[in-house]
Amino acid sequence: MASAETDSKSLFSLESYHVSEEHGFILPEPLEELPPYYKPWMDIALRVPELVHSHELRSHVNKMPLLSSTFLQKHRELRLAHLALSMMTMGYIWQEGEKNTAEILPQNLAVPYWEVSQRLGLPPIITHADAVLANWKKKDPDGPFNMQNLELLVRLPGGESVRGFFLVTLLVELAGVPAVRSIPTVINGVRCSDTEAVARGLEIISKSIEDMTDALRLMQVYVDPSVFYGIMRIYLSGWKDNPCMPKGLIYEGVQTEPMEYSGGSAAQSSLLHCFDELLGVKHEPKSASFLIRMRDYMPPLHKKLIQDISLQPSLRNFVQQQDCKDLNKAFDLCVTKLLALRSYHINVVSRFITVPAARARQLREQNHDSDGEIISRAPTALEERGTGGSGIMSFLKTVRDQTKDTLLPEASKEVKHHS
Ligand code: HEM
Repeated sequence: MASAETDSKSLFSLESYHVSEEHGFILPEPLEELPPYYKPWMDIALRVPELVHSHELRSHVNKMPLLSSTFLQKHRELRLAHLALSMMTMGYIWQEGEKNTAEILPQNLAVPYWEVSQRLGLPPIITHADAVLANWKKKDPDGPFNMQNLELLVRLPGGESVRGFFLVTLLVELAGVPAVRSIPTVINGVRCSDTEAVARGLEIISKSIEDMTDALRLMQVYVDPSVFYGIMRIYLSGWKDNPCMPKGLIYEGVQTEPMEYSGGSAAQSSLLHCFDELLGVKHEPKSASFLIRMRDYMPPLHKKLIQDISLQPSLRNFVQQQDCKDLNKAFDLCVTKLLALRSYHINVVSRFITVPAARARQLREQNHDSDGEIISRAPTALEERGTGGSGIMSFLKTVRDQTKDTLLPEASKEVKHHS
């Protein structure tokens, strides 16, 4: 069919996916303020850490008026509203720790939160798209995009470590932008059998992934593992597969039955999902189902981009068919950099979760008077789990090993023809 032919030949571009040239998946210039009608939300959202600390957040939220979400019009208004309502919700549920979670989210919060979520196609819980992608501003608007010049819009408890955690993650996203921009180069190169363009695109992606790993190294500079483990983590936890909230959460005024949602996690970042689909990383069924479920926590157009990449002709097959040394090298370099990022990430998870978890267990076993130890305040239900709800280390190692299996087989590297 003529139209199908034209479709298959038309160039792949990022235009229709809400992905910006400069910022990738990051929301460009997030709004800092909502229309004045929403002042009651922002007044509380901006004080979440302080109100949680004084155990007053729930009573403030309970007294909040039920506002209509209809005066939110622009995409960026909806994103800021979702961010603010998410922060309030996480503070509300976890204010008293894992022992006294709220089972019902009151309707003055639940109803507008649900409506805003529906309009954005996001779940009614904090996501990476809120806490990281839409939660930043530059102190000096003309200044650089770096730690010194960045600030969060809304915070959770955890002081400077919260700032560090979300902003370093934002810098990892930023480092991935050149890779995102090169995805169409690679896809179109495969479509036109332009080996050089594919190799060039893959080289840019490799460098960008390496820069992501370097940005991730800043986590240990800006985030204190005991604060992360003992204070912050619970506020990112969800109500799916979480023993503290076995039934989930009732969103009052929305539905009488409780609903289950996973907590916020960078597993919801679209970057690695795109790379996996492009390079053809095949995950084991259990890891794959977790990762695919995480796509429901992304802005719908970002999820669509990942799906559309997965529908393209296989890059890995193309590389193997071309028998070109430079192309093989560029492909394997890309997989190697992704592998290195995942290995380093496992290292980070060990430092920020496994080690403090072992220390917390030890303190409990010794019946230690642990008032002074921040980590022993951590919820025990989360010990073996990620905030997204996964059994952490075995999952991450399986994902890493599957990445390794994507390297080209030795045989195909013994290239017969040079191009
Ligand atoms: C202190 C820092 C971090 C910790 C403790 C951490 C922890 C975790 C945990 C526990 C998981 C398992 C999934 C879950 O249940 O949520 C996970 C997955 C994941 N994290 Fe992180 N993470 C950190 C930073 C980051 C950053 C900055 C990124 C980059 C955007 C990132 C990207 C991912 C990805 C893509 C996955 C899914 C598994 C994969 O594709 O390899 N993480 N992380």
